Amino acid sequence: MPGERAKVLITEGEIQARVAELGRQISADYLGKEPVVVGVLKGAFIFVADLARHLTVPVSFDFMAVSSYGAATQSSGEVRIVKDLDESIEGKDVLLVEDIVDTGLTLSYLQRILLSRKPASLKTCTLLDKPDRRKVEVALDYRGFEIPNEFVVGYGLDYDQKYRNLREILVLARGS
Ligand code: IMP
Ligand code: MG
Repeated sequence: MPGERAKVLITEGEIQARVAELGRQISADYLGKEPVVVGVLKGAFIFVADLARHLTVPVSFDFMAVSSYGAATQSSGEVRIVKDLDESIEGKDVLLVEDIVDTGLTLSYLQRILLSRKPASLKTCTLLDKPDRRKVEVALDYRGFEIPNEFVVGYGLDYDQKYRNLREILVLARGS
């Protein structure tokens, strides 16, 4: 645990119920299709794994890893692809899965890249959304929870690469 200064924002039960609901909704929307789920590493790995087990349509999985450039260039939304997809998505129905949308810069960059590869369709699913911090508008098709402008960890999300393994979403108090 990050210490007693961390407080639970979303419980394990709430997360699991919402992920199941998203899985049902996505399965219904993709009925008759075979979507490719693209998970964004590392933050989305646990969400993708749980969501995967609630999908009832034939589905395949691929992953991308990205990292932001230094703080100076962050406002440009330039992200570096650390690991690209293994397979072509041309002509495929793609569901991009993110852990959290904050400024929206990372996601809008990823959407641009994926759209340039000519998928049949592109939808986006994020577990968490911090709309207060948005700098660019991004299209979100599925959203787990809207959260206030606080730094959160757990369920895949990290602070300095730690706490990804926690089962709930916690707010990390300043200085903890
Ligand atoms: P954006 O480009 O500002 O939308 O940032 C998205 C990325 O910043 C996410 O994929 C996370 O890796 C990271 N991030 C933003 N907010 C948080 C948070 O509260 N906790 C942990 N990581 C965060
Ligand atoms: Mg991330």
